[in-house]
Amino acid sequence: MRFLAAFSDRYLPLVTGADRRGRHRPAPRPASLPLVVASREDAADGVVALRLTAPDGAPLPRWQPGAHLGLVLPSGRTRQYSLCGDPGDRYGYRIAVRRTGGPGGGSDEVHDALPAGTRVRVKGPRNAFPFAAEPSVLFVAGGIGITPVLPMAREAARRGLDWHLVHTGRSRASMPFADELRRLAGADGRVEILPDDEHGIPDGGALLRRAAGRAVYCCGPGPMLDAVRAAFGESGAGSLHTERFTAAPVRDGRPFEVALRRGGEVLAVPADRSVLDVLLERDPATPYSCRQGFCGVCTVRVTAGQVEHRDGRLTEHERAQGRMRVCVSRAPEGARLELDL
Ligand code: FES
Repeated sequence: MRFLAAFSDRYLPLVTGADRRGRHRPAPRPASLPLVVASREDAADGVVALRLTAPDGAPLPRWQPGAHLGLVLPSGRTRQYSLCGDPGDRYGYRIAVRRTGGPGGGSDEVHDALPAGTRVRVKGPRNAFPFAAEPSVLFVAGGIGITPVLPMAREAARRGLDWHLVHTGRSRASMPFADELRRLAGADGRVEILPDDEHGIPDGGALLRRAAGRAVYCCGPGPMLDAVRAAFGESGAGSLHTERFTAAPVRDGRPFEVALRRGGEVLAVPADRSVLDVLLERDPATPYSCRQGFCGVCTVRVTAGQVEHRDGRLTEHERAQGRMRVCVSRAPEGARLELDL
């Protein structure tokens, strides 16, 4: 019956053929799904939550807590957003987006150019931050970093795990889903809401105060992740799982140059900036999404020069073909890469 149910799901057609042992193999997923913005609401100051559904109301591919979507915006830019709804809801995906006004403007576009009824395409869901449902868990979320953590907390509650959640943010008004978290926590005091303007910015030790013996799942801005990593060793926690929603700082970077083969320019890449940063400064429409080397949106072809690959995702064959993920990969000090741009 499970097989038949899956077969009837238009977005997950399972049967395309059989292997040599006669086992049926799943068809590859379509590269992207057409969806529609069914509704939107203000989830907090500067945060909009969108519900995305299939245009014909069909069920959507399943997902697990921690998963994200690649949302293709009307401009053609793709941005990654964690799914923050209920995995049991087969008919809608919820994402929440804070307006950041940063270069590339993806969040501005979500806020300003996606009214209810807008057709969009999404890639995924994919999960780079899976929840292993350990018996005892501490969730730590900074600001909009609550989005992947909320479904994890819901799953922990559903399974009857021993869980606790700390959510920090600038102010209560800026922190989404406080009511949902309170309902989830019930009377058990499992959720701590810690606005900076009431409690100050907590250090790593304070964030991991209840971590002893627990698995820790943390999503938030870079400084929070750095503080949690630094405090992890002393915390007594069993394991640490993190997801960063901003680009990681460049580590061990050295300056080099990129020459744009078609544009005819030579751009300096400083030790503390990525090639993508430099390209964005020249052209804010330069495509990117995750800024962490895993989505592939920023990949360019290198026509000359030696690349220092730092993404861990491109295959040897792709590297041999000159592919480079410019959000993370670099070149040796003083070298020049020629890009097919
Ligand atoms: S932006 Fe995702 S791999 Fe570079």
